[in-house]
Amino acid sequence: MSEILQPGQHYESGEGDQGASYGRVRTEGVDTTHGAILYLEDITVSFDGFKALNNLNLDISVGELRCIIGPNGAGKTTMMDVITGKTRPTGGTAYFGQTIDLARMTEYDIAHAGIGRKFQRPTVFEQHTVFENLELAMKMNKRVKPTLFFKLLSEQKDKIDDILQLIRLNGQESRLAGLLSHGQKQWLEIGMLLMQEPQLLLLDEPVAGMSDAETARTAELLNELRGKHSIVVVEHDMAFVTEIARDGKVTVLHEGSVLAEGTMQQVQADERVIEVYLGR
Ligand SMILES: Nc1ncnc2c1ncn2[C@@H]1O[C@H](COP(=O)(O)OP(=O)(O)OP(=O)(O)O)[C@@H](O)[C@H]1O
Ligand SMILES: [Mg+2]
Repeated sequence: MSEILQPGQHYESGEGDQGASYGRVRTEGVDTTHGAILYLEDITVSFDGFKALNNLNLDISVGELRCIIGPNGAGKTTMMDVITGKTRPTGGTAYFGQTIDLARMTEYDIAHAGIGRKFQRPTVFEQHTVFENLELAMKMNKRVKPTLFFKLLSEQKDKIDDILQLIRLNGQESRLAGLLSHGQKQWLEIGMLLMQEPQLLLLDEPVAGMSDAETARTAELLNELRGKHSIVVVEHDMAFVTEIARDGKVTVLHEGSVLAEGTMQQVQADERVIEVYLGR
């Protein structure tokens, strides 16, 4: 018996899409026959009577890069908490694909099913090198059965190399993660999430605290992921959102509901959006 993990052979729910590699929109284990990776319907979250989310409706298509904007307290992070099982909705339904009811799952099971989330503050293993961080993330890939002995196959090394290029840390793989700049740590964490091959990636304020140059490079990075992953990005940096939204849909949240949805140009011209957010 081989003690080496063969890529694609040990996916627990890889029906129809075994061994899918970085570069395709991953949907294995998720029924996306109607084209959506995520459906939120009439989601309400009450904290002692205060509705952080109020009949929120949101659909994300497979391979879409959706930007979510809105004022502080609009419910953007709470929405991500609901999707990842951290917060239980008081009402409504949340589905991952057609059939996976997120309200019935634990946080662990949701991560295992393929929803990866990046919180605002970077969480990398500071005492380990960049390469080791990516390697550890691969070992923690929740879609791969744990094996006692794990050796890196050349294919897996290639994958780490691809991700290193993508996150602009090639040539820095031997550096300790703790010595990276804030922006580089954020990229490394995105790389670590990608190593886990998520079908849906949630990024909460990925460019907060970054320099202008780092922000521009993050926009490039996300544009490279476009069409290869299903991604939801929450951001307040409108120049950044304009860069990555392109002609795609932008959703404006306000007081726990969708206030407007359309291209960046459309929502920027919307009087209600200007009133509650962009005009301030
Ligand atoms: N655990 C909680 N208990 C009580 N109120 C909460 C809790 N979590 C969030 N809230 C409230 O819910 C509302 C929505 O918060 P949320 O963090 O989702 O907003 P946000 O859109 O992410 O804002 P920001 O842009 O500032 O990050 C806020 O009024 C917040 O104070
Ligand atoms: Mg927030």
